[in-house]
Amino acid sequence: MNVSEALQTRYSVRGYKPEPVPEELIREVFDIARLAASGTNTQPWHVAVVSGDARDRLRKELCELFDTGVAQKRGFPGDAEMHGVYLDRRRACGFGYYETMGVERKDTEGRMRIARKNFEFFDAPHVAFFSMPRGFAFPQAVDMGIFLQAVMLVMVEKGLGCIAQGSLAGYPDPVREIADMPEENEIMFGLSFGYEDPDAHINTVRMDRAPVDDFASFTS
Ligand SMILES: Cc1cc2nc3c(=O)[nH]c(=O)nc-3n(C[C@H](O)[C@H](O)[C@H](O)COP(=O)(O)O)c2cc1C
Repeated sequence: MNVSEALQTRYSVRGYKPEPVPEELIREVFDIARLAASGTNTQPWHVAVVSGDARDRLRKELCELFDTGVAQKRGFPGDAEMHGVYLDRRRACGFGYYETMGVERKDTEGRMRIARKNFEFFDAPHVAFFSMPRGFAFPQAVDMGIFLQAVMLVMVEKGLGCIAQGSLAGYPDPVREIADMPEENEIMFGLSFGYEDPDAHINTVRMDRAPVDDFASFTS
């Protein structure tokens, strides 16, 4: 598989088989992804992988926080207000997903059930927390995104499914308690991963992309 094929075949996987991924394979993924570029080669990333009993405990704690409506408190600033075409795309993303799952737009409970899946790690056997030192800023956030993309593409090549989750930055306390994360770091996003469940209907969701002329200009 080449890079173009990995990009063309990757999608966010939201349904997994319970079988764990051998640690050797997870390490192999990171061993390749670590070659990602970063500004002045600072490599600001840390990845805390949580599996097995620790994953089960963390899932339980995060779901309890979500279920009891505890306010989320991120280490880094959350999302910006969207407008125009960006807001349209965000809405299309949410609604496409709800529609596939048979949840009506006005079904608040159904939407909460779907949002909760983030904290259930979509049933993936592994979840990784990507963090960087507190106080690092925009340029390092770009590096984190480049690294995330490298990890996701290598996972595709290795036959693994994954989903990036900004939502997993919302409740850092139990993550700090259970995962092995540097004290000076804050979480940017999580990544649930494992082997895709081919029978999970949720995995039939595909998101569109804007064509090149919508985002690129060419001047000579
Ligand atoms: C940084 C980042 C954070 C994301 N956070 C979430 C999330 O919290 N929950 C979720 O269901 N999907 C999340 N996604 C997945 C996006 O919704 C998805 O990538 C986008 O809709 C395009 O779909 P595709 O990945 O299937 O091509 C995130 C993706 C990225 C890159």
